[in-house]
Amino acid sequence: MKLFIDSAEPKEIRELAASGLVDGVTTNPSLAAKTGLDYVESLKEICATVAGPISAEVLATDSVGMVAEGNRFARIAKNITIKVPLTWDGLKACRSLASEGHMVNVTLCFSSVQAMMAAKAGATFISPFIGRLDDAGQDGMELIREIRAIYDNYGFATQILGASIRHVAHVREAALAGCDVATLPPSVFKTLLYHPLTDKGLAAFLADAKKAGVRIREE
Ligand code: E4P
Repeated sequence: MKLFIDSAEPKEIRELAASGLVDGVTTNPSLAAKTGLDYVESLKEICATVAGPISAEVLATDSVGMVAEGNRFARIAKNITIKVPLTWDGLKACRSLASEGHMVNVTLCFSSVQAMMAAKAGATFISPFIGRLDDAGQDGMELIREIRAIYDNYGFATQILGASIRHVAHVREAALAGCDVATLPPSVFKTLLYHPLTDKGLAAFLADAKKAGVRIREE
């Protein structure tokens, strides 16, 4: 499963990308607003930092406006993915942008039928919002399983990009349910490797080596 960072903050993304394990980035207007930075300037920096797909979300709500904004985003860098909402206009824009060869991420997906429609419109990625469904008392992971089954039944190539991820258990479940990608808030990415037994085990190995004077000599 590919791992994207869900952030519009270039500095934060640069730090995490240094791990060599970041496959892409997703941004949205709320994340952009939180940074207080110019959205397009941030996108330029992010595209230069991470080679994989970088989602940039349109603000227009009509298809013509979305296509115009999408084309503006696409001029920033080759790895821009244009993010459009799951509305009729969004899907119309998706079809048009995809047919011009752009990567498109259809966002705000809350049902498997919506996901099927996005795939029919040629989406590169579909973004089901797991955490927001859980927050609303539904089962976000069940949505992933349904989309996986529909896409596999009909051979849709659209990649399932699990979004609105809240914790590491969501990452595990998304991987088991067959997400192609999960986009993680930086705080969740940082906790992916945490296990108390790993820390305890490493401390014991190092203490034993020190006590016995174990060295790794140059040949
Ligand atoms: C990513 O593409 C989505 O915009 C994001 O994951 C939404 O997350 P939230 O529900 O935490 O705002």
